[in-house]
Amino acid sequence: MNKDTITLTNNRDAKSYEFPILNATVGPSVVDISTFYKETDMFTYDEGYTSTASCRSSITYIDGEKGKLMYRGYDIAYLAKKKTFLDTAYLLLNGELPNKEELDNFSFEMQKRSFVNEGVKNLFDAFPDHAHPMAILSAGVSALSAFYYKHLEINTKEEYKEMANRIVAKIPTLAAFSHRYSNGLPIIYPDMNRGFTENFLYMLRSYPHNYVELKEIEIKALDTIFTLHADHEQNASTTAVRNLASTNAHPYAAISAGIGALWGKSHGGANESVIRQLEMIGSVDRVDEFIAKAKDKEDPFRLMGFGHRVYKNFDPRATILKDIRNELMHELGISSELVDVANKIEEIALSDEYFISRNLYPNIDFYSGLILQALKIPKEMFAVIFVIGRTPGWIAQWSELNKQKTIKIARPRQLYTGPNDRTPEY
Ligand code: CMC
Repeated sequence: MNKDTITLTNNRDAKSYEFPILNATVGPSVVDISTFYKETDMFTYDEGYTSTASCRSSITYIDGEKGKLMYRGYDIAYLAKKKTFLDTAYLLLNGELPNKEELDNFSFEMQKRSFVNEGVKNLFDAFPDHAHPMAILSAGVSALSAFYYKHLEINTKEEYKEMANRIVAKIPTLAAFSHRYSNGLPIIYPDMNRGFTENFLYMLRSYPHNYVELKEIEIKALDTIFTLHADHEQNASTTAVRNLASTNAHPYAAISAGIGALWGKSHGGANESVIRQLEMIGSVDRVDEFIAKAKDKEDPFRLMGFGHRVYKNFDPRATILKDIRNELMHELGISSELVDVANKIEEIALSDEYFISRNLYPNIDFYSGLILQALKIPKEMFAVIFVIGRTPGWIAQWSELNKQKTIKIARPRQLYTGPNDRTPEY
């Protein structure tokens, strides 16, 4: 018998079936069940894909037990500490880290492509004040396909590069515009003399003829947040992007779908919930009461920013952001009741038996929420920031799928639980 197989026996009729095991370069192997239905006349059932690999990918690797995250084989801590978001974006999009010349060219591409067609502004004018910036951003990205309708077919390496650079460069501009329009503020055009992350903060915070000073640590903190969000394997929004790619949809439509998925509270909205919860707790002397609520089985209350489906020892992204948060708070001299509440919760959770025994460590959202708050970025923009970081990952995943020799349209099956044929004679 081939050892690299799994044998399944159907106990209803004692028939056995063999399925091949495919090895990963690192991490769990998978059982190839693509012939399962044909052979057994049954589907497999795995709601939420908890045991299902939906694709082959060489982009990102996560080991949840060891708290390890790698993009293209590079550890996240190395990328966050020694490289910039643009290095990381280049790595995801092209497979290799850029050398100096490649990085300079990429950076110039980002600057030169950062402007959006003036027509986009007319579109944004139609949104009411206080429209959620994610609504404006997803419409903006979708609209880019109308402005670049001649470039929707991506067949060559050059076409891919142009599309990838265009989208990564324009997302921060659309993101900043979404904030300005949502708040009825005058828009600030990109400044070609600024780097990628600095330019975004500049478009977000400045006023015409009144440039707001940006500190190095602020740019570094936001750049690190972008890097840490740049990809995360087959999460919900990436799966949405891949599902669209499998239908042959163009990348603008796919990314717009990714933005929709990311908007959900259980995905990109968690860091906003962290700050809302800290504000609701309000003062240090109420922390014990909320810790007790979080531990109470009868109470649905959960401490936002704690726990993770995949990382069961620690979230490597949180470890990096914790240092950045400390540095940022120290340099900006930030102290507030909200920060004290956060510190107290963190201290209790890291020493309390309930949290330790369930591996409930602070996750990336706990620290990113606090950092974005310190950067004076409004809560509704937190998910938008996530989109900017995640865009290179989405494009890399879209492209990986498109490079496959044969593309299978994503088309899961179901366990039907509705009525059988009820059609009357007619
Ligand atoms: N506060 C209090 N108790 C918790 C929490 C929490 N935040 N998270 C999990 N638990 C408890 C849960 O009640 C359960 O207890 P018991 O074993 O006694 O029944 C145990 O821990 C395991 O919980 P689970 O729901 O089975 O764990 P999960 O892996 O399905 O959920 C999670 C992971 C992230 C959805 C969950 O921890 C949670 O809701 N956290 C708060 C929301 C949050 O911070 N989300 C952001 C996650 S990071 C996003 C990203 O990577 O992009």
